[in-house]
Amino acid sequence: MNIIIGCDHGGFELKQQIMNCVVDNGHRVVDAGCYSTDSVDYPDFASEVCGAIGKEEAEKGILICGTGIGMSIAANRHPGIRAALCMEPFSARMSREHNDANVLCLGGRLTGVSLAIDIVETWLNTEFSGGRHQRRLDMLE
Ligand code: RB5
Repeated sequence: MNIIIGCDHGGFELKQQIMNCVVDNGHRVVDAGCYSTDSVDYPDFASEVCGAIGKEEAEKGILICGTGIGMSIAANRHPGIRAALCMEPFSARMSREHNDANVLCLGGRLTGVSLAIDIVETWLNTEFSGGRHQRRLDMLE
């Protein structure tokens, strides 16, 4: 699967770790930036990642800012994007099973590397349940 990952300066360090984790789980990773801890604007990177998903250049995306909040707000403004801010693996699993989340948001200043890897692996390896959950997603379009 192609996974596109983007961050702002608050998520840069965690992004570097998460890219390795995505590759270790058998996926191709596209790095949409940013590429340093210099201050940038998170909506630009949310647009990059969500745009690539919209154009089907990537199936899923991961967005990391300081808290994950800005990225999740920005991502959910894009049509067809279901972004979930997750701080533990249970939410990550539910966001896939029930919400078919196609973007995972993380807080680089809140979530340590080991926990973030657990979250990402859970999210990548959980399928959407469909059924009544698909009906509810249809109601959001
Ligand atoms: C940047 O300082 C910070 O505001 C950003 O990374 C993010 O946490 C916004 O929600």
